[in-house]
Amino acid sequence: MKQMDVIVLGAGAAGLMAGIEAARRGRRVVVIDHAARAGEKIRISGGGRCNFTNLGIAADRFLSKNPRFALSALKRFTQWDIIGRLDAAGIGWHEKTLGQLFCDGSAREVVALLTGDLERAGAELWLSCPVGAVRRAGSGFAVETARGGLQAGAVIVATGGKSIPKMGATGFGYQLAESFGLPLVETRPALVPLTFAEQELQWMAPLAGVSVQGRASCGKTSFDEAVLFTHRGLSGPAILQISSYWREGQAISLNLCPGVDVAAALRAGKQENARALLRSHLARLVPEKLARQIEADLGLEAPLGTLSNAALERVAAQMREWSLMPVGSEGYRTAEVTLGGVDTAALDARTMEAKGVPGLYFIGEVVDVTGWLGGYNFQWAWSSGWAAGQVA
Ligand code: FDA
Repeated sequence: MKQMDVIVLGAGAAGLMAGIEAARRGRRVVVIDHAARAGEKIRISGGGRCNFTNLGIAADRFLSKNPRFALSALKRFTQWDIIGRLDAAGIGWHEKTLGQLFCDGSAREVVALLTGDLERAGAELWLSCPVGAVRRAGSGFAVETARGGLQAGAVIVATGGKSIPKMGATGFGYQLAESFGLPLVETRPALVPLTFAEQELQWMAPLAGVSVQGRASCGKTSFDEAVLFTHRGLSGPAILQISSYWREGQAISLNLCPGVDVAAALRAGKQENARALLRSHLARLVPEKLARQIEADLGLEAPLGTLSNAALERVAAQMREWSLMPVGSEGYRTAEVTLGGVDTAALDARTMEAKGVPGLYFIGEVVDVTGWLGGYNFQWAWSSGWAAGQVA
């Protein structure tokens, strides 16, 4: 059995960061992944440009049974710290929107920075290496791997969530937590497109590809961002965001023109050109295909001048609060993240160590901490990985 100080399971964002930090402290570290390449989700993230953090990191942008759990790590390794690392490496970045920071070039630069730092710190990286049983052995742990048995005083579990199994996601971390008696918060796909019943798909499908700057709401939570119609239902940032809050049996509501007094705009349009059809006026506010759909939906295919102000109010109400009933989501196949995971009540917020199992740490997406869309999830991976790397 090879003896190490720290075994990190998973070479994603969280595992690489933890490995770097522990190795910089002089610990003998091995980071193990069953995938052929490290940091695959970093590589494909943000359309290949990696939305690596967000300027607006705050507790209310994370979902968890205990949203305050994440704060300690987020405050000790902040968005400015990861920005500093990219700056020092000469990796350019820019703010796209809503505080979201993306690489100017390629996400591969971030992967190269992390794997380079890991190597310079003296850690080993074992790729294409399936991991077997993890057991208590004396005061530490024994880990079976395809390259033979390992022993170490600390094991850091960074195997991520269940999203995108095609990229190597497994439920490994959850099973491992359970085998050590740690509680789990139920998992479900999040940041995921929502799907609809046949009846709704019939009118949505022709709109596939249409995008509108809208507001998606579920209960008291709302997001003002783009809504995208697809062949399967609804997607786009506003829908991905609201999917984290939506539960089966709940309706979502769309405001297709947030901040616009649609009734007043239509009344003004009536004065200006009474002979034009309702859809022509609506097409000034939303894409034309959607304008046609709204017009048909309400049975108001008529010149604006022939429509009463009450009818215009109905149009405005429909655009303000279009209630839709999703039947499900596209699931882990396309979900960006997994909600739920290892219950934070069982972890130390400062170190990520399991309270009842000294030497066992959980970081990143496997933990019940899920960020909004927009760089929050990588920041959690960096911060929690950094925190564990200081002590393991
Ligand atoms: P991550 O999933 O990155 O890494 C886990 C690693 O463990 C993987 O390398 C996997 O192969 C390995 N592993 C799993 N099971 C194993 C086993 N049994 N044995 C050995 N190894 C195992 N977030 C964000 O903030 N900004 C963004 O731009 C995006 N964009 C984005 C796009 C897409 C398409 C997806 C799917 C996700 C995003 N995300 C994102 C979310 C982000 O990718 C995610 O939150 C982090 O990658 C989580 O980092 P972790 O290190 O925890 O897990």
